[in-house]
Amino acid sequence: MTEEHSDRVPEVEVIYAADAIAARLEDLAKDITARDLERPLVVAVLKGSFVFAADLIRALYRSGLEPEVDFLTLSSYRKSRTSSGNVEILRDLDLSVEGRNVLLVDDVLDSGRTLVFAKDLIAARGAAQILTCVLIDKKVPRAVNVAADFSAFESNDEFVVGYGMDVGHRYRELPFVGRMAKDEA
Ligand code: IMP
Ligand code: MG
Repeated sequence: MTEEHSDRVPEVEVIYAADAIAARLEDLAKDITARDLERPLVVAVLKGSFVFAADLIRALYRSGLEPEVDFLTLSSYRKSRTSSGNVEILRDLDLSVEGRNVLLVDDVLDSGRTLVFAKDLIAARGAAQILTCVLIDKKVPRAVNVAADFSAFESNDEFVVGYGMDVGHRYRELPFVGRMAKDEA
């Protein structure tokens, strides 16, 4: 997938092709593994991070890490493209995070509200350490003060889709990260 558009979704412009994502994740996994986390627990924030997290944990395995994995379903966006400003738990974790070294994985760091909400929640439950890892670090002013410890890619202030990320429930299945073409945005 190196073309600028996929024939099947001409309204989506490719920003990061599948092979570029795969290559970047191997390096990212090595950087994370170098932190020597003891009994690491990956917490994937759903829904948007499910594809990223699935590929990341396998890249982590290849680089020598054996994380446990749990999921936290949060909602801040609802149906609109702009953050509502309040984050809710739609489905909580199954596992206890007490004393654990948590790698918190999300798709996009935008206003920062979602990541801060998840970090605060996990910290309040007694995690030993929380590292954050996002697929896309948007270079925009944050509404709250937070930075990702690890990020695969950066983007400008534009709405990204694919590789797990949606707009109105569409495009999660795309194997690449794209942006909505100008006349669709
Ligand atoms: P924040 O709370 O404003 O940082 O937004 C982060 C959450 O909003 C992420 O977990 C995403 O699910 C969603 N989000 C933000 N920007 C985008 C985007 O460009 N495409 C898809 N989802 C996004
Ligand atoms: Mg999300």
